[in-house]
Amino acid sequence: ERTPEGKVFRLRAGAGESEFLRGKSTPTWGYNGSYLGPTLRARRGDRVAVEVSNGLGETTTTHWHGMRLPAVMDGGPHQPIRPGAAWRPVWTIDQPAATLWYHPHLHGRTAEHMYRGMAGLFVVDDGEDPGLPSEYGVDDVPIVLQDKRFHEDGSLDSSGIRFQGPSVTGLLGDEILVNGTHDPFLEVTRTRVRLRILNASNARVYDVGFTDDRTFALVGTDAGLLAAPVPLRRIMLSPGERAEIVVPFAAGERTVLRSRPPRLGANPVYERLAGGDDTFDLLQIRAAPRLAESPPLPARLADVPPVPAGPGTRTRSFVMSDFTLNGRTMDHHRIDQVVETGAVEIWEVTNAGGFPGNGLPHSFHVHEVGYRVLDVNGRRPPPHLRGRKDTVFVPPRTTIRLAMRFGPHSDPVHPYMYHCHLLAHEDAGMMGQFLVV
Ligand code: C2O
Ligand code: CU
Ligand code: CU
Repeated sequence: ERTPEGKVFRLRAGAGESEFLRGKSTPTWGYNGSYLGPTLRARRGDRVAVEVSNGLGETTTTHWHGMRLPAVMDGGPHQPIRPGAAWRPVWTIDQPAATLWYHPHLHGRTAEHMYRGMAGLFVVDDGEDPGLPSEYGVDDVPIVLQDKRFHEDGSLDSSGIRFQGPSVTGLLGDEILVNGTHDPFLEVTRTRVRLRILNASNARVYDVGFTDDRTFALVGTDAGLLAAPVPLRRIMLSPGERAEIVVPFAAGERTVLRSRPPRLGANPVYERLAGGDDTFDLLQIRAAPRLAESPPLPARLADVPPVPAGPGTRTRSFVMSDFTLNGRTMDHHRIDQVVETGAVEIWEVTNAGGFPGNGLPHSFHVHEVGYRVLDVNGRRPPPHLRGRKDTVFVPPRTTIRLAMRFGPHSDPVHPYMYHCHLLAHEDAGMMGQFLVV
């Protein structure tokens, strides 16, 4: 809805029933429906207001993952929405085109709320479309990946969503939902289709490709388009990460989007417990008998200037071990970092490994800023980590240096979060708070 003050969206969090498995009803949560939420879309320069009302029986929050906005609008643990109440954040979109998303962020309850179905996409456009496929639902298709476990009666099995039993990274499901659909297929009608893939799972890491190993073009990562398309056969996505890929199709053909065992870098036991041995067929794709010809893939996509970090740039270190960040767990009353608006900083994130010897995989997400990966264990990052990012997978015994520029939003009171995006780890307190002043 467009009003004089800008674009107004309404989201209502509520409970409902979904039919994922034939003839079985699953109690779920969603925004404006029983599962997931609508794709919101706005362009750079838009003034945006969202009214989020809470029809759930418990407090939740709504965080805009990847969005640059004032800390009081961020929707983290400090912006609770009580049952029956509404929250109305307002901000101006000012960042490059990207596939962002929204989800709850109530401390200690994020894993549960997301597992029940609370998540949606927020697509940001800017005025600089390079000519990529962009007809939503036709040749520009969202792919929200989630894994679930079901009880016999169809209800969601959430055992292991916190640390119990053999769960080392949190709950792993044995069934896949794509956009809330079990056993899905997609019919394509153009010779090139852009997939905006979001890993909205609690803990599962996917290594996404096709059964026929076809080459696709990676055109965007979390926080924006790449400078130029990168040909790939696989892309690994940990929870919270996004990839925009453009896939070529020939008339009448069939293929399957498949996740192959991701390399998590853990010891063989933890590798298996964290899903490193698992293969899943995610989505069947059928090309129509006749396809409309798509324009060629543009050679240049966007201006992606480096973040100007150099030898004199301030560096902060973050060590992840034993479910802590720098030896501490989240404390709402403690500010862990204070940075200045406009400052360029390097955040050096190390997964130390931790007990018993060579540890668990983690990831690192920073609210508000977005960042560029400078290096991974001192080496140039692989192609899928060279673009704009806001969430990065951090395997055991790995140090990743991230360059970011803070601001323009400042607030001496309200913090933003940084944390591991494996939701059981986040809920267990692998999270810290920073102020931008
Ligand atoms: Cu996607 Cu702090 O979260
Ligand atoms: Cu976030
Ligand atoms: Cu973690």
